[in-house]
Amino acid sequence: MNIGMLYGVGVGPGDPELLTLKAVKVLKAADVIAIPKSKEESDSIALSIVKGSVDLLNKETLELMFPMTKDKEVLIKARGNAAAAIADRLEAGKNVACITLGDPLFYSTFSYLIPLVLEKLPQAEIKIIPGISSVMASAAAAITPLAEADERLAVIPATYELEKFRDVLNDFDTIVLMKVNKVFDKVLGLLSELGLKDRAVFVERCGGENQRVGRNLEILRGERLDYLSMVIVKK
Ligand SMILES: C[S@@+](CC[C@H](N)C(=O)[O-])C[C@H]1O[C@@H](n2cnc3c(N)ncnc32)[C@H](O)[C@@H]1O
Repeated sequence: MNIGMLYGVGVGPGDPELLTLKAVKVLKAADVIAIPKSKEESDSIALSIVKGSVDLLNKETLELMFPMTKDKEVLIKARGNAAAAIADRLEAGKNVACITLGDPLFYSTFSYLIPLVLEKLPQAEIKIIPGISSVMASAAAAITPLAEADERLAVIPATYELEKFRDVLNDFDTIVLMKVNKVFDKVLGLLSELGLKDRAVFVERCGGENQRVGRNLEILRGERLDYLSMVIVKK
C-alpha cells in the first residue's frame, strides 16, 4: 500500500477569509485533519477557522496534545506521541493535514514533528502549505509598515533574555515581539526606559471577532492578556 502524504497547512491568523485557496483544497482532500492543541494556546481556533470551508464529517480529526511547558522530557514525549499517531495514519495510506495557526514553519509545533515523523517513516513525503502569519496580519490590522527601504526587521519572542532584548530594541528599526502576554509589564518597562513606548502598537486576537489594536499600552498594564497577542515597535 502507498503511504499517505503529510501536509503542514497554515490556516492564517484567525479570519476564515485569510485561509488560502490551496489550504482549502488540501484540507478538503485530506483523510485526517491533525490538530495540535494545548490547554492555554487555544489551537482549536485553527479548527474553527477551517470549519466554514471544509466539511469535517467524513474525516478523522486527530487531536495532538502538547502541554505548554519548558520541561524537555514532557515535550519530547508529547512530540513523540504526536509523530507516532501521524506516522500510523500515513502508513495506513491516509493523507494527513496538520493545521497550524498562521504559518506552519513560523514558531509552530509542526516544525518539530517533521524530523520525528521522518525518523519513524523515512519514506514519508511532506508538503507545506504556507499560511498568512500573525505578523503580517497584525501589521495590516495596525496599518504599520514592517520594513521600508533599507530598514531592518527583527522578530523575537518577548520572553527573550532582558539584556539581549534591549540590544535588539536598540539595533533594529522595527521589532515584532511575539508571545508578549505573560511578560507584558516587563516589556512596557523596557520600552519606557528606551523611549519607545509611543512607537509601539499592541495587537490581540488579530483576525478574530474580538480583535484589539491599540497604541496606548499603558492602559494594558496588569491586565491578563490573550496568548494570541503581540507588540510591534516601529521607530
Ligand atoms: C506559537 S506562535 C504561532 C505563530 C504562528 N505560527 C504564525 O505564523 O502567526 C504564537 C504567537 O504568535 C502570535 N499570534 C498568533 N496568532 C495571533 C493573532 N491572531 N493575533 C495576534 N498575535 C498572534 C502571538 O504572539 C502568539 O504568542
